[in-house]
Amino acid sequence: MLTASTSESACTALGCSDQQTNWDAVTSQDLIREYEVRTPKSKAMHERLLRVLPSGETRSVTYFAPYPVAVQAGSGASLWDVDGNQYVDVLNNYTSLVHGHGYGPVIEALGRAAAAGTAFTGPHTALLELAELLVDRFPAVEMIRFTNSGTEAALLALRIARRVTERSSIILFEGAYHGTAPEFVDPSPAVIRVPYNDLRALEVALATGVAAVFAEPFLGSAGVLSAQDGYLDEARSITAQAGALFILDEVQSLRNAEHGVHGELGVRPDLIVMGKIIGGGLPVGAVGGRRDLLEVTAATRPGFMPHSGTFNGNPLTMAAGVAAMRALDGATISVLDERAAQVAAAIAEAASAAQVPVVVTRAGSILHVHLQDSTPRRASEVVSNPEEVTALHLALLLEGVYAAPRGMLNLSSVMTDADIDRITGAYARALQRLRGAIDA
Ligand SMILES: Cc1ncc(COP(=O)(O)O)c(C=O)c1O
Repeated sequence: MLTASTSESACTALGCSDQQTNWDAVTSQDLIREYEVRTPKSKAMHERLLRVLPSGETRSVTYFAPYPVAVQAGSGASLWDVDGNQYVDVLNNYTSLVHGHGYGPVIEALGRAAAAGTAFTGPHTALLELAELLVDRFPAVEMIRFTNSGTEAALLALRIARRVTERSSIILFEGAYHGTAPEFVDPSPAVIRVPYNDLRALEVALATGVAAVFAEPFLGSAGVLSAQDGYLDEARSITAQAGALFILDEVQSLRNAEHGVHGELGVRPDLIVMGKIIGGGLPVGAVGGRRDLLEVTAATRPGFMPHSGTFNGNPLTMAAGVAAMRALDGATISVLDERAAQVAAAIAEAASAAQVPVVVTRAGSILHVHLQDSTPRRASEVVSNPEEVTALHLALLLEGVYAAPRGMLNLSSVMTDADIDRITGAYARALQRLRGAIDA
């Protein structure tokens, strides 16, 4: 039984700012038991997986206790597990499936591409098409180079920055995520971490003489924490004054604006890191940016910086990427944005009705439900309450909504009004359930 107590229940649609919640002694045993009853085949698969994969997975972020849902298939906005349970997928492979599962134009493009060959060593038409599409669409991208993941793209951007500045250290924001390469996750004297939305802290760190600042338009992994007005522009300009490269990681944010968030804000980074949606659902990453910086990797130049990868520019990925990006026009993004605003408001309203402290942060069609009473602007302001977050996640799965265990959700362009109603209805019931637990 979940147990917790609240000292005050005066919530508003924007959250419960006056509320002090005491969640201690929360357990999720009831939810876990229910989940186990519904998902015996997922459990059996997890037990088999445990023999051959550490913690039964190959991607840390996909594990959650007691064991993850084992997926059978996806179609449109729906996902089925191996027990036959259906979910609305609001995780969309961590924002990369902006058109949901099995999107017609992507599947057709993949069929044609696969029939022509699954891997080529040299240039091919789909490589040219996706490169042209991205260069034409994103103002900061004069030239581009493909990788197989956002992680690899961030590493390539780092190598370019070190090469051109002849400096080695970098600035990262607290709570930022640029993949799991050692430079971005392991403690290192070459990395200075500063709080997001704090220009003064950035200025002080820049004075040490760094190669680059890696920024995100919003901190995705830390809880979809938005940049304050003018912050990225200012950050970009003081970074240039310090002789460092400003590298904007748009791996998640590209889906939120037709010309990228940098295009929308009129901020011109030296390089942008790309991934997720540009591969149409297949593995991908890319670095785009200033011609002179990208040309550091040009094999035609004496002393160039080599960058290779057996699957870089893979024809299936490139073909899927072209189809997905063509379908993600400004009008589609506007609809996604409106629907996400509607979902955010409905979740806040449901939380208010259930008297559960909730703040919903949102960047375009990516949202994060925080079980806390004030809006976080930097990672240190995100309240750590893993038991409650886990309880909400399990309650949502039981209601047929497949969200990120940490509280993130995002929409896909193929969702119908009925899907949106299912999502908001599920949140309302799950939050009522948490409320019941608080009262218990
Ligand atoms: C902002 C950001 N950068 C980089 C990455 C790493 O991309 P990948 O998982 O493709 O390596 C991610 C992945 O979630 C991301 O969100």
